Amino acid sequence: MSTPLELDGQTVLVTGASSGLGRHFSMTLAKAGAKVAVCARRADKLASLVEEIEAFDGRAMAFSMDVSDVSSISAAIDNAETELGAISVLVNNAGISVQKNAVDMTPDDYDLLMDTNQKGAYFAAVEMGKRMIAHGHGGSIINIASVAAIRPLAQLSTYCMSKAAVSHMTRALAVEWARYNVRVNAIAPGYIETEMNAEYFASPPGQAFIKRFLRRRVGVPENLDGALMLLATKAGEFMTGEQIVVDDGLNLAM
Ligand SMILES: NC(=O)c1ccc[n+]([C@@H]2O[C@H](COP(=O)([O-])OP(=O)(O)OC[C@H]3O[C@@H](n4cnc5c(N)ncnc54)[C@H](OP(=O)(O)O)[C@@H]3O)[C@@H](O)[C@H]2O)c1
Repeated sequence: MSTPLELDGQTVLVTGASSGLGRHFSMTLAKAGAKVAVCARRADKLASLVEEIEAFDGRAMAFSMDVSDVSSISAAIDNAETELGAISVLVNNAGISVQKNAVDMTPDDYDLLMDTNQKGAYFAAVEMGKRMIAHGHGGSIINIASVAAIRPLAQLSTYCMSKAAVSHMTRALAVEWARYNVRVNAIAPGYIETEMNAEYFASPPGQAFIKRFLRRRVGVPENLDGALMLLATKAGEFMTGEQIVVDDGLNLAM
């Protein structure tokens, strides 16, 4: 039997793997021994990630996936399972942010954000859940929510709504799929510097915002590794429907 924090020989799929957290999660999972199906829209970024993983003798393959299109999710999962074997862990991570006052938000902004963060996350989980149930050996689905799921953040109304939905979806699917041994949990990160926010945090308003954080700093993707590995491996076998907040105390300070 493998030690709890290993994923030797298992196949995992990461959505939004082309940058930021998803890219880092893919590296971490590959280093733990998993075969990683890296999925997103930007093929060039995925190809360089696969190269980087292969450079340390890890195993990864890239699959094109647009989470706002259910047939694209389904095709990518099927292709990944054909190439790498049945998937036991989904990191449901793809997401975007639209930062605007609510009075400036357009229906197009709303649809773009919800189609990606809410509908996209839901159908990535559902398409994966269907296959995990059919294979009969269970699995772990890790949804990437946000502290925005817990408390409202300025100029991010639709983002906050979408992440609250991901958070509650986690509990709803955990209840529905417990009998199939499919665990569904979430990680709610605080601010971690990625493509999504690097420009903002480098700006004077971003720097001023950081001063309001309890420990006056933004995180790095590695800060989420503990929660990721707990939920992905046997170490988290007795957990389902949970949301792990990893925010450096942000929630307490704001
Ligand atoms: N960074 C933070 O502080 C923070 C905090 C809390 C939660 N989060 C959440 O963490 C997740 C990752 O964000 P990040 O910070 O790593 O941002 P990022 O660097 O901008 O990465 C977002 C990823 O999502 C993918 N994506 C976007 N739209 C997609 C679509 N329609 N189909 C497939 N993939 C799509 C992008 O890939 P392509 O463009 O190549 O498709 C990219 O790989 C998001 O769900 C975000 O809400 C981030």
